[in-house]
Amino acid sequence: MKFVLASHNPKKLKEMAEILSGLGVEVVSPGELGIDLEVEETGTTFAENAMLKAKAICEAAGLPAIADDSGLCVDALNGGPGVYSARYGGEGLDDVGRYRLLLQSMRGQTTRAAHFTSAIACAFPNGDTVTAEGHVEGTIAFAPMGEGGFGYDPVFFYPPMRKTFGQMSTEEKHAISHRGKALEIFVEKLATYLK
Ligand code: IMP
Repeated sequence: MKFVLASHNPKKLKEMAEILSGLGVEVVSPGELGIDLEVEETGTTFAENAMLKAKAICEAAGLPAIADDSGLCVDALNGGPGVYSARYGGEGLDDVGRYRLLLQSMRGQTTRAAHFTSAIACAFPNGDTVTAEGHVEGTIAFAPMGEGGFGYDPVFFYPPMRKTFGQMSTEEKHAISHRGKALEIFVEKLATYLK
C-alpha cells in the first residue's frame, strides 16, 4: 500500500519510510508524484495544521497522506511561539536567530517551563483519518548548550537527563521526544486501522 508523506524533508521521509515498512506501507514524497502544493498552515493547533496538510495532499494525490506539525510552547509566553515556532521573529531569522530571540524574550523570567508537541495526521481518500500526538516537558535554558539537533534544541533543557536536546545524540532524543512518542502512537493506531 502506497502512502504520501507531506514533507520535503528527506530525513523525515527516510525515518517514516523505515518505520512504516514494517506495516507493508510504502512511503513516497509529493515531489515523486509530481505534486507541488504549499498548504497554508492556518490552523490554531498543531493537530489542525497536520490534518489540513494531510487532507490537501490526500486529495491531490488520490492516495492516503501523512503530515505532521510540531513546535515549542513556552508557559511564560502564553504558549508561544506555538504554531508559529517555525516563523517566530519573521522570515529573516534562521534557527539560531529564533532561539536567540526566544532567550531574549525570556530574559528575567523565572518561570521557564515549556513543552514540545508533535501532531501526526493521516487522511484516507474515503474520508477516514488516523491521528496521534506526543509531548515532552522541559524548561528553557538560560543560554544555548550543545550543537546537535535543529530548531530550538540547544535551548530546550530536559531535566531528567540534565541536558538540552542539543546535547543529546539522535537516539537519545528520539527515545524521549515529542516526535518519537507521536510516531510510536501513530504507528500503533495505523496498524490497528489497517487490520
Ligand atoms: P514543522 O513541524 O516542520 O513545521 O516545524 C515546526 C518548528 O518547530 C521547527 O521549525 C522548529 O523550530 C520547532 N521544532 C519542532 N520540533 C522540534 C524539535 O524537536 N527540536 C527543536 N525545534 C523543534
